[in-house]
Amino acid sequence: MKIALAYSGGLDTSVAIRWLKEKYNAKVICVYADVGQGEDINAIEKRAIASGASKVYVSDLKEKFIKEFVFPALKAGAVYEQKYLLATALSRPLIVWELVRVAALEKCDAVAHGCTGKGNDQVRFEVGMMTLAPHLKNIAPVREWELASREEEIEYAHKHNIPINVTKKSPYSIDKNLWGISIECGTIEDPSVEPDENVYQITKSAQDAPDKPTYVEIYFNKGEPAKLNGKTLSSTDIVCKLNEIGGINGIGRVDMMENRLVGIKSREIYEFPAATILMNVHRELESLVLDRETMHYKELIAQKYSELIYYGLWYSPLKKALDAFINQTQKEVTGFVRLKLYKGMCNPVGRKSSYSLYNLNLATYEKSSTFDQRLGEGFVKLWGLPYKIKALRRRK
Ligand code: ARG
Repeated sequence: MKIALAYSGGLDTSVAIRWLKEKYNAKVICVYADVGQGEDINAIEKRAIASGASKVYVSDLKEKFIKEFVFPALKAGAVYEQKYLLATALSRPLIVWELVRVAALEKCDAVAHGCTGKGNDQVRFEVGMMTLAPHLKNIAPVREWELASREEEIEYAHKHNIPINVTKKSPYSIDKNLWGISIECGTIEDPSVEPDENVYQITKSAQDAPDKPTYVEIYFNKGEPAKLNGKTLSSTDIVCKLNEIGGINGIGRVDMMENRLVGIKSREIYEFPAATILMNVHRELESLVLDRETMHYKELIAQKYSELIYYGLWYSPLKKALDAFINQTQKEVTGFVRLKLYKGMCNPVGRKSSYSLYNLNLATYEKSSTFDQRLGEGFVKLWGLPYKIKALRRRK
């Protein structure tokens, strides 16, 4: 048997290599998907081999992640439960895609992941696999094995010479990519307690942020960011640069209670510097160029779209259909937004587009107004008519 394992380099998946070999008498091919974790790739490759992998694939998927997974979510305005910008959730369907590619190349019979049975990620991995490669068996070692705690896993690792002393130990479970960081476990599991400052990995606190505001100007082309402060940059570079600038200014910290798909509520800490800035800019530009009805209808779509991402339904027919709608709305979402970043705040202070629907002559309260105010009278009369009729009847 041959198994392709989604390998992260952490304790769970390192132990999983050995466990899979033994339990299934299998060869294990590790697949490390680089979506911007910022880890030492060499060390990860070495660790996989030392843990018993027959082969390791390291794939740089950063640009693909941003272009094909993050930007559609950005254009949709996808936010789960008003706060979660879906960074972890968006990376899963891409990792699945890569796993399927390698499994085909290596003629694997099964795929495996290191998710627990309590979270959303097992759903995203397995539903993704079922959709893209229904013939492959799904294995979830962490759900199956009898290692009940981190301590027991460490003991298992020692017994089998799995090099976990190089595995970075943190009191938190951290999942990082270019769109943001998810932090769980440890002291943050008590939702009544404010997280320690050391929980945060890439953002400064508002107190420690600079006392002077930073201005950034971002240009969007058809709903996607294309320039930062006048410079054309790759999608990945724009996101990286904004993570840096946003992080320094304390932008994008989230502390929330979240409804998992499996029914559990959990306390989550997130950091989304670039994502927060780009979502803000995008929304601002849309409110300049979209007509009211499209804009409001799109808000309904955004809610559903965020659920599809969160629930592991990225490769579903509905998601594809919604993309068609969203892309149609983005054809004129082109223009500039100027933002002021200051101590955790990120506020648009200027916007400009050749597709702008703003008409100064109509909106102005100055003498130059071309709007015929008499039109208002008839409009109001008809708009309020049903309510007037009802009120008159009530008086009778
Ligand atoms: N709750 C988030 C989600 O379901 C994040 C999960 C992150 N995983 C982790 N190991 N911290 O998408």
